[in-house]
Amino acid sequence: MLKIRFSCGFYTLLLMATLLLPLISSAASKWKSLEKDGIHDPDSPAMGVLQEPAAALSKLPQNTSGNMVDWVKALEDGAIHPRTNLWPETKVRIRNDDVFLEKTGEMPVVRFPHRAHTMWLDCKNCHEKYFISKKGANPITMMKILQGYYCGRCHGAVAFPLTECDRCHSVPRSKLEKIKAESRKAENRK
Ligand code: HEC
Ligand code: HEC
Ligand code: HEC
Repeated sequence: MLKIRFSCGFYTLLLMATLLLPLISSAASKWKSLEKDGIHDPDSPAMGVLQEPAAALSKLPQNTSGNMVDWVKALEDGAIHPRTNLWPETKVRIRNDDVFLEKTGEMPVVRFPHRAHTMWLDCKNCHEKYFISKKGANPITMMKILQGYYCGRCHGAVAFPLTECDRCHSVPRSKLEKIKAESRKAENRK
């Protein structure tokens, strides 16, 4: 009797520890060290000289996926100041409107924010090669995106991953008209 109770308790504890350990360690560091990231050579003399991702990225506004940083917030809040141009003659073009992509079936509507993109990218990165600059002119589907076309050229590669459905499908149909009106007002920002 006593023996069974003991072993039950022991195994329960062991099970709990196994389940909790990854949680505890992932809370301590959300980023793999350079030595363990499978990209850097652990024997390289650069180890110890290069900055660890956790040291650099933990200082920025946090997110729950990808490399765990909310890059749009980091830029808007001034936490980072990426250089906008190499040549002085380059004209930085910011566009503030949102495009609402409504062919989403049961899913909430997609709000495509030009501002969050043109803070990083030039128009030419998208127009006219990947997107015709006319609302509704692009036959975008989720399948195409998952295959790496349209939004999938960047999302899942250099921008937040496609598993974050609600960051793109962010507008419930019941609030669509209200959010469109708010978005039109916000277009006059600098
Ligand atoms: C990077 C942005 C983005 C992400 C992330 C994203 N979607 Fe989409 N999704 C779109 C766009 C854009 C469309 C096309 C809308 C249009 O053409 O009007 C779309 C269309 C859809 C459609 C409509 C049917 C179809 O096949 O086109 C469904 C359903 C859908 N997405 C589900 C999802 C689910 C589920 C997820 C998460 C696993 C997801 N999406 C993640 C941007 C995204
Ligand atoms: C990250 C990609 C991306 C960048 C960068 C980008 N756009 Fe767009 N643009 C889009 C998408 C996606 C649409 C929506 C197309 C659709 O509805 O099929 C769009 C739509 C447009 C439209 C049509 C809007 C409407 O309501 O009819 C214009 C005009 C436009 N873009 C101009 C620009 C200009 C000017 C720039 C640079 C300042 C720019 N875009 C930068 C992706 C981009
Ligand atoms: C040329 C590259 C590129 C394409 C194409 C692209 N994006 Fe993005 N997108 C980015 C980058 C870079 C960011 C900022 C980094 C991040 O948030 O991961 C971003 C951020 C976003 C954000 C976050 C805005 C915020 O305020 O946090 C949304 C929403 C988004 N993209 C939707 C879309 C949708 C929908 C499409 C397709 C219609 C699309 N993107 C196509 C590069 C791209």
